[in-house]
Amino acid sequence: MPTRSTVILGTGSYAPDRILTNEDVAKMVDTSDEWIRARSGIRERRIAGPDEATSDLAIQAARRAFEDSGVKASEIDLVVVATVTPDYPMPSTACIIQHKLGIPSTAACFDVNAACSGFIYAIDTACAMISSGRYSKALVIGAEKLSSVVDWQDRGTCMLFGDGAGAVVIGVSPKRGIGLIGTKLGSLGEDTDLLIIPGGGSRTPTTPDSIARGEQFIKMKGKEVFKLAVRVMEEAARDILEQHGLAAHQIDLVIPHQANLRIIDAIAQYLELPVERFFVNVDRYGNTSAASIPIALDEARKAGRIKQGELTLLVAFGAGLTYGSALIRW
Ligand code: ACO
Repeated sequence: MPTRSTVILGTGSYAPDRILTNEDVAKMVDTSDEWIRARSGIRERRIAGPDEATSDLAIQAARRAFEDSGVKASEIDLVVVATVTPDYPMPSTACIIQHKLGIPSTAACFDVNAACSGFIYAIDTACAMISSGRYSKALVIGAEKLSSVVDWQDRGTCMLFGDGAGAVVIGVSPKRGIGLIGTKLGSLGEDTDLLIIPGGGSRTPTTPDSIARGEQFIKMKGKEVFKLAVRVMEEAARDILEQHGLAAHQIDLVIPHQANLRIIDAIAQYLELPVERFFVNVDRYGNTSAASIPIALDEARKAGRIKQGELTLLVAFGAGLTYGSALIRW
């Protein structure tokens, strides 16, 4: 089996226009701007309109990634979409996006559910498929409409989440050592109950009773998730660095999953890196789950935070619990 190196050819992102501030959240539940900012670092989040589904956000991000990469929809032979808020349980959001973007019918299209680690799972999958020699250009998207699964009466979760999408185009690297140089994935399946949407699946199909119990919404044990998040993200970062014989200080920019500024601060401290070395936009978007890293990656590139030859570390954790890290040499 041939193995080829893979590279990110372009990035794009999109967030809906509507901004929901902490003050707006405080009109719905008993909370305050000060509390939300102090505990999470979040100031505002974007909320999709009633007619906007996850695929609508995703195609905007994808179009920008096509423009940035110079790659056309007709060249794509693989579409991988990371999401926990698909347009429908069936068919995949990837197929809907394929059709809307005019990607050829010969392309393989599927969704990945690894929650907030989903984008890293998706790029790892796409890169492995391209490395195998069987695919050559992938559109990889992280997209979420989390506002559709948030309980707007639960003050412990509703202030954390937002909507958005980020996309990358991945192709064959012209040179070894440039591009996606490594990934590390893992899961802690014993902790599924910490972060879960209990209703709507085969365990608890949707019924009037399940809806009355609010089982269609995100349930989270915030404190436990927080502690595990810090531990697994630090480990995922250390493991990949060790695998590649690198020290933390050699990383030029870390793009962490944007869940909570306190989680990012803690990881910076454990890795003994200045927090300036971390890209942060959680203040403006909240947690957009699988969209969080690709939106941050696109903004970091377009803000000039990533230069040729530099090393970027992506690191995430999410429901599952899942975790993952990736190293990119630009
Ligand atoms: N406003 C005011 N008070 C609140 C709010 C709120 N929005 N939410 C909770 N409180 C109260 C609680 O009721 C509690 O009061 P009590 O002591 O009287 O019981 C008190 O504030 C402290 O609550 P904690 O939950 O202990 O607060 P904590 O400091 O842990 O912060 C938070 C809560 C921000 C949710 C934090 O636990 C967190 O960020 N956890 C990680 C969550 C996360 O990252 N989830 C995403 C995972 S990724 C994915 O896959 C989707």
